[in-house]
Amino acid sequence: MNIPFAYGKIVENNDFTDRTEETSLLRNNFMSLTNTAIISPRRWGKSSLVAKTIKSVKKEQDDILFVKMNIFKTENPQEFYATFAKRTMEGISSSAESLLTNAKDFIARLLPKLSISDPIGQYEIALGVDTKNSPIEEDILDLPQQIAQRKKKKVVVCIDEFQQIGEYSDALKFQKTLRSHWQTHSDVAYILYGSKKHMMMNIFGEYNSPFYRFGDMMFLQKISNDEWQKYLVGRFKDTGKSITQALAKYLAEQVENHPYYVQQLAQYAWLRTTRTCSTAIVDNALQAMLDSLNLQFVNIMDSLTEKQRNFLCAVSNGVKNFSASDTLQRYKLGTSGNIRIIKEALKKRDLIDETGKDIQIQDPIFKLWIIREYTKM
Ligand SMILES: Nc1ncnc2c1ncn2[C@@H]1O[C@H](COP(=O)(O)OP(=O)(O)OP(=O)(O)O)[C@@H](O)[C@H]1O
Ligand SMILES: [Mg+2]
Repeated sequence: MNIPFAYGKIVENNDFTDRTEETSLLRNNFMSLTNTAIISPRRWGKSSLVAKTIKSVKKEQDDILFVKMNIFKTENPQEFYATFAKRTMEGISSSAESLLTNAKDFIARLLPKLSISDPIGQYEIALGVDTKNSPIEEDILDLPQQIAQRKKKKVVVCIDEFQQIGEYSDALKFQKTLRSHWQTHSDVAYILYGSKKHMMMNIFGEYNSPFYRFGDMMFLQKISNDEWQKYLVGRFKDTGKSITQALAKYLAEQVENHPYYVQQLAQYAWLRTTRTCSTAIVDNALQAMLDSLNLQFVNIMDSLTEKQRNFLCAVSNGVKNFSASDTLQRYKLGTSGNIRIIKEALKKRDLIDETGKDIQIQDPIFKLWIIREYTKM
């Protein structure tokens, strides 16, 4: 029997739940060629949402070409250009032959060192990029528009881990270059999403940033507890086991409806269930998750200053007013002037998330761990 529930990878089909509103919003943006930035904390389902939406649109529309890339491993504009050219060619080609033709048509002029292999039926393109010459590099950025015009199709370019461009040296200059090209592309939409929320906000939310008002900003939310209930009850049932709705509610609540962790906890609980899941099984599964992450969390705590650790404890305990003198004293946070510095440092590490005045620990299991292991204050 297949083990249900999946985590740590892009989910689809049976493993994908809800997101009907977001899918339809994104779909509309694909069709209307509206540039979109998708922002959320880590592992809330950005990549899965884009993958699912592309799949569903592809089934119905053949006038849109999709180009997908993940730029996580790129460290500078040159590597970005190489990935961009390669993935664009692969995205618009349905076979090794068409890849060859497209590559000759569109990029041979830009990147003469071109080779294509088809070792196991999965064609791959290797580009010899030695573009010290920036006009050529910048021409690469116009490929999607050129392709759209020549093929008389729309092109949707999806770039995952887009926050990575903020890590390049001279990042601002590069962002200006991207924006100056992409904003002229009338037949292309850029869907830009990434996992480091604070960096994505620097790129899209700052008034002085080149990408400010580039398009729609979609702040992906978690999946609601009601949706999780339906999904969990359904998946247990489909696989010959059962969980009550009330227990499904409890399960998702333990991990604050966090998509990745609901899936993980559900799988741990499912594996421990012979026929009918119980509260004890869910609690036991949660403890196993905490145990497996213990070392990782110890390491994170070790890498922080004492005040940063104390601040995390305060957040985990539900403190809201960090500058209040009894909070400063109780959690040994120093003066209220320290709070901003501590907060910024923790946001940079993606350990906390600030929405308006509300501060949360990003990772709900880390929060539980802090409460259980650390807050004996
Ligand atoms: N719509 C969904 N239905 C069910 N589970 C989901 C859904 N979306 C995400 N998940 C769960 O969350 C996990 C992370 O999803 P995904 O990789 O798409 O998130 P992400 O926001 O792109 O993550 P990262 O920030 O690490 O790039 C998935 O492996 C799955 O367990
Ligand atoms: Mg992702």
